[in-house]
Amino acid sequence: MWHPLGVFPWRFLHPRMWAFNARNVLHFLIDKLRGAPPRPLRARDFAAEHATPGDATSVLAALDRYATEKRWLMSVGPEKGPLLSEMIARIPAGARVLELGAYCGYSAIMICQRLPPPGALVSVEISRANAEAARDNIALAGFAERVELRVGSSSEEIPKLDGPFDLVFLDHWKDLYKKDLILLEEHRLIRPGTIVVADNTGDLFDPGVYLDYVRTCGRYDSESREAHIEYSNLPDAVEISVYRGSAEGA
Ligand SMILES: C[S@@+](CC[C@H](N)C(=O)[O-])C[C@H]1O[C@@H](n2cnc3c(N)ncnc32)[C@H](O)[C@@H]1O
Repeated sequence: MWHPLGVFPWRFLHPRMWAFNARNVLHFLIDKLRGAPPRPLRARDFAAEHATPGDATSVLAALDRYATEKRWLMSVGPEKGPLLSEMIARIPAGARVLELGAYCGYSAIMICQRLPPPGALVSVEISRANAEAARDNIALAGFAERVELRVGSSSEEIPKLDGPFDLVFLDHWKDLYKKDLILLEEHRLIRPGTIVVADNTGDLFDPGVYLDYVRTCGRYDSESREAHIEYSNLPDAVEISVYRGSAEGA
């Protein structure tokens, strides 16, 4: 049964996160009092002002600058992003990538930078404002033709997708990772060899349910890479799991 204390993100009260949280709460309150537009739209406007159209690297740099100088952004960021690029480099030319959680489009741009055409990305984003920011940033980077951005919840969109995908980037709400990965398996949207990259699997995110699944269900070869929470010195990790397939042959 749903209970407000059950869904409260207790991990954010961890002492190591106090300074990080205090700054974010302060910024949140200032923005609320000012009636500011959603943060991803302000980051989009900042990128439009400071990046060069068609130059993806300059768009990422503008978003990094916004995240460090203005307001924190939950994009994959410049430390974990290259890990994602390293995985993209392992999949074949013309590969198809699925991302759950687009936010400002930062990781989508990084994926397109490393994925040669005709490779394509499908990105699912539940928030209309975030999807708008992502769409504009992706277009600014010159990748509008390479990304299919679907606005909706992962659980509703996954059953409508055509697969299979060669790489899946899980970066939406952390409590949905296991449920949505199972949904991807059930709909045969992943195949043996598909790489599943899951961001924010460090202890501060309480990732036990997901990690137990990919490490013990017998269908994945899984390893963790240590990193830091984007734009911070707080510990985090990325879990990289390669799908072996199921006993039923999916
Ligand atoms: C951490 S951010 C994604 C960051 C992005 N991948 C990047 O690195 O640039 C998480 C995003 O997931 C979206 N989200 C949360 N739950 C979702 C769901 N069930 N389906 C689709 N998107 C979801 C949020 O609105 C948010 O924009």
